[in-house]
Amino acid sequence: MMASYKPFYLAFFVVVSAEFVWKHHNNEELPLVLEEVHEKCPNITRVYALTEPSVRNVPLYVIEFSDSPGVHQPYKPEVKYVGNIHGNEVLGRELMLGLAHYLCDQYNYHDRHIRALIHNTRIHLLPSMNPDGWQLSTDAGGQDYLIGRNNNHSVDLNRNFPDLDAITFEFERQGISHNNHLLKDLTRLAAPLEPETRAVMRWIMSVPFVLSAAMHGGDLVANYPYDESRSGAPVSEYSASPDDDTFRELAMAYASAHADMASGSRAGCRISSDDSTAYNFGKQGGVTNGAAWYSLKGGMQDFNYLATNAFEITLELGCQKYTDERDLEKEWIRNKDALLAFIWKAHTGVKGIVSDDSGFIQNAIISVVNITGSVPRPIRHDITTGAYGDYYRLLTPGHYEVTANKPGYFPVSRVVTVPRHQTSAKILNFKLEPTTSWFDDYTTFGLYPHGLRDGQPRIYKRSIYQQITDSILDHKETKH
Ligand SMILES: *[C@@H]1O[C@H](CO)[C@@H](O)[C@H](O)[C@H]1NC(C)=O
Ligand SMILES: *[C@@H]1O[C@H](CO)[C@@H](O)[C@H](O)[C@H]1NC(C)=O
Ligand SMILES: *[C@@H]1O[C@H](CO)[C@@H](O)[C@H](O)[C@H]1NC(C)=O
Ligand SMILES: [Zn+2]
Repeated sequence: MMASYKPFYLAFFVVVSAEFVWKHHNNEELPLVLEEVHEKCPNITRVYALTEPSVRNVPLYVIEFSDSPGVHQPYKPEVKYVGNIHGNEVLGRELMLGLAHYLCDQYNYHDRHIRALIHNTRIHLLPSMNPDGWQLSTDAGGQDYLIGRNNNHSVDLNRNFPDLDAITFEFERQGISHNNHLLKDLTRLAAPLEPETRAVMRWIMSVPFVLSAAMHGGDLVANYPYDESRSGAPVSEYSASPDDDTFRELAMAYASAHADMASGSRAGCRISSDDSTAYNFGKQGGVTNGAAWYSLKGGMQDFNYLATNAFEITLELGCQKYTDERDLEKEWIRNKDALLAFIWKAHTGVKGIVSDDSGFIQNAIISVVNITGSVPRPIRHDITTGAYGDYYRLLTPGHYEVTANKPGYFPVSRVVTVPRHQTSAKILNFKLEPTTSWFDDYTTFGLYPHGLRDGQPRIYKRSIYQQITDSILDHKETKH
């Protein structure tokens, strides 16, 4: 009789051993935690590494959650979280490991909300983008404000992305309306790309992310684009993107679901004990425009928005950069609802598929005019359709005219109302008709690439896009 209980004890033992412990996980333990989660939840997870490791050859591991791991499915937005881009800012790294365990456990406990989230979203968690910096910072006792911030080439990874802000600002000045996927327009790199940056760029360019957040430490605030000021002013210049309202709402979604990020009465963060200028961002709802705080070039957040369809914000998760180990679990409890609420934001706005009689249309352009107020206002940032002709257009509640267009087709516009409290984006599909079915030459109808209007100037510069994308795009993610 006893023998028949053995498998039960064995199974019980495996589950217990996979229980998550709140502590600082080193670079060897990190992939083991992800593997544990994968073993508990093999059907809804996949562990993989980005195309390139860090300078010191540490793989950049990702765990993915989806009901169909490894596969993009139309109508299912993709979301990512990136932790530990600054090696000495460590909370995001542990929160990602904790979140991975939590998503898996709740899924297995049949938590209705988590099941709905995973069945409708593809979620990627990169706990550490800078494992070398983490090691240096940890070896130094995790106390210093700067040691371990950079990668092993002493480069700040959050300054190492191509500066596409400069390009979009230049187009604005010239009245050119081309406003998305600007990597094509890059003519020079300010600095060589670090391996960690390259790996993340390839990832960003190859997965159709809709929503993203990067995790830092040193303050408590959700920061949204642009990070770079238009004038070059180093501080206090609000630098609105065309999606300013949407970004504010995304940042507020995190801040207001956090224990006290949005609290006006908490203390501000001090850089040193005699620092009396500590400002509490909670007084402004726990959010800030990036450049209104301080301006930076080459950040990952603006790169996501200007090179791809992804909307990324930057989370400063607390005053302490190297969080005390004994505070990790408490910080998880303070961030848990916010981490989930933010992922749900991928399900706001409108989404759909653009097709013609013969199938999906890739790279169709989705442009939006806000018709909520008395004056229609174009949102000058277009989204493009992906491999299945699918698009995801994050928007705030209101009324919009959405247009699908592609050279060679007649554009189609539809009016839509985005309601409050969405848990699923409004579906708006488009069927386009080729102009060739009517006329041989569509160019006489004023369809220009990138929404250029007739007579508008176009900058002609030798683009290094081909050079960059050749090296970036034709790599596939390598499996762990
Ligand atoms: C994974 O899916 C298979 C087939 O549907 C099922 O038999 C199995 O129980 C699932 N495993 C877990 C851990 O959910
Ligand atoms: C690079 O890594 C090595 C080995 O861990 C370390 O000794 C060295 O200080 C690091 N250099 C920088 C600039 O981080
Ligand atoms: C559209 O306009 C309304 C009213 O001005 C505003 O509340 C809303 O946030 C705008 N939407 C976007 C996405 O800018
Ligand atoms: Zn940082």
